[in-house]
Amino acid sequence: MRGRYHRKPIRSTGLKYNFSTLKSRPFSQLDFVIHEDLYSNHNPLLHHSMQREVAMFPHLKNFNLRQWIEENRHDWGQRRVIWEDSDFIAFVTRGPNSRKDFHINPGDEIFHQLEGELNLHYVSSEHKHEVAVIKAGELFLLPGNVPHSPRRGEGSWTLVVERKRRPEEQDLFVWFCEKCGNKLYETTMRFDDPTDAVRTATDKIHSDVKLRTCNQCGDVLAA
Ligand SMILES: [Fe+2]
Repeated sequence: MRGRYHRKPIRSTGLKYNFSTLKSRPFSQLDFVIHEDLYSNHNPLLHHSMQREVAMFPHLKNFNLRQWIEENRHDWGQRRVIWEDSDFIAFVTRGPNSRKDFHINPGDEIFHQLEGELNLHYVSSEHKHEVAVIKAGELFLLPGNVPHSPRRGEGSWTLVVERKRRPEEQDLFVWFCEKCGNKLYETTMRFDDPTDAVRTATDKIHSDVKLRTCNQCGDVLAA
């Protein structure tokens, strides 16, 4: 930890306070100082503080996304979470998928297309069905509360970052008739685990053809 930068006075306020204020102040206004002796392993009190810091911020280290994908490329499910114990949930997801739901979550969502294409279907503020085609290397910011349906073919890999949900928040999953646009079914779900939330939300409508049958035009949504 030698040479690491921290705001002073670190002795009087403690690491937690220092880190929380660090986020809310412009970088240029911070008063940095090197406390090389502060992080000596010979100081048991500060050593304890360092352990607290590690517990609070387990991801203050580099993460080689490309290497991680290559090492797991042939043993991969639909989705893998990188971390979810900070303000954000970050996960990699890949195609092919067969999602027909439109997901409405309360926070913004960032898509970074790693390989292949992502067809991001969404409902615009004018209530029109739009499709954003996101190509490898591109970023896409989806504002919160926009109904969206990420649809991927084989070889499509996406890094998704979104904020963790607050205790009272529920995500909404909605299905529409593809022929006339009538709403077929909707359900709410806690989005603590992305894989479980999507699977649980879709299982019911997949297994019940009545829920997929439009009561306006009679069209049946494919499972
Ligand atoms: Fe319909």
